Amino acid sequence: MSDWETITLDHENGVATLTVDRPDRLNALNVDTLEALDEALDEAEAEGAGALVLTGAGDDAFVAGADISYMQDLSTPEAQAYAELGHRVADKIEQFPAPAIAAINGYAFGGGCELALACDLRVASEDAVIGQTEIDLGIIPGWGGSQRLPRLVGDEIARRLIFFGERIDAQDAHEHGLVGEVVAGDQIDDHVAELAADLAAKPTYALAAAKEALNQAHETSQEAGLRYERRLWSGLFGTHDQREGMQAFLEDRAPDFE
Ligand code: COA
Repeated sequence: MSDWETITLDHENGVATLTVDRPDRLNALNVDTLEALDEALDEAEAEGAGALVLTGAGDDAFVAGADISYMQDLSTPEAQAYAELGHRVADKIEQFPAPAIAAINGYAFGGGCELALACDLRVASEDAVIGQTEIDLGIIPGWGGSQRLPRLVGDEIARRLIFFGERIDAQDAHEHGLVGEVVAGDQIDDHVAELAADLAAKPTYALAAAKEALNQAHETSQEAGLRYERRLWSGLFGTHDQREGMQAFLEDRAPDFE
């Protein structure tokens, strides 16, 4: 079991919960925290997590962004290394072989918003505030926001959010399609835990294949994506869960997935 100062990883019933635990800095991501997150994602995958939850410690923040005190004096090569580390973590979440849910329990700015964008689903507490705020620091989103945000909310809204650096509340984020759901602050942990447990109980390979196919929808031409879907779909035949799921349906009973 690894020993990280600012990341905790809990496993329960097939769900891995990763918590950024730096509340005195509103969970801002310095290099150590990002590196720990990178390792923790590998560990969650090695443990065979059937769903991943990403959240922030304390009542105020999901993640208030990249660490501004660290960034202030970076040279271009240092900034490039920091961007690459942030991208590696976001890509790892996006390619994690099980669905990832961001439980946005407070401020999600800059890099915090970008980590949430890399997740499959986003649930926000009603007092969450979200934004790609980098412009007012004299920079732009550097951990994937300029690419993932327009794919999620559309080009016009993404341009508005990034150009103005606007900080929007959970309700507006929901209207823009930036979060899928808004729940009361005292219910977000339980609600997300329930969603994650439901996902972890689904057929593992089918869920991983569904995520891979959906990810391809943003990456490739429709023709290539359709070809890929056919391959993923047929590859599931012969798995325990395919045989069991179909047999259970035909016998009118609940399936017993692996
Ligand atoms: N990087 C480094 N430190 C940060 C931080 C960040 N992204 N966000 C917050 N902090 C630190 C603050 O400097 C402060 O430290 P201090 O106690 O030593 O002064 C501490 O966390 C608490 O933040 P504070 O600003 O005092 O809390 P607040 O409730 O008044 O405001 C925010 C909260 C989130 C609105 C405000 O901190 C903020 O705007 N943060 C920056 C958000 C941002 O632009 N992120 C994108 C970075 S790419």
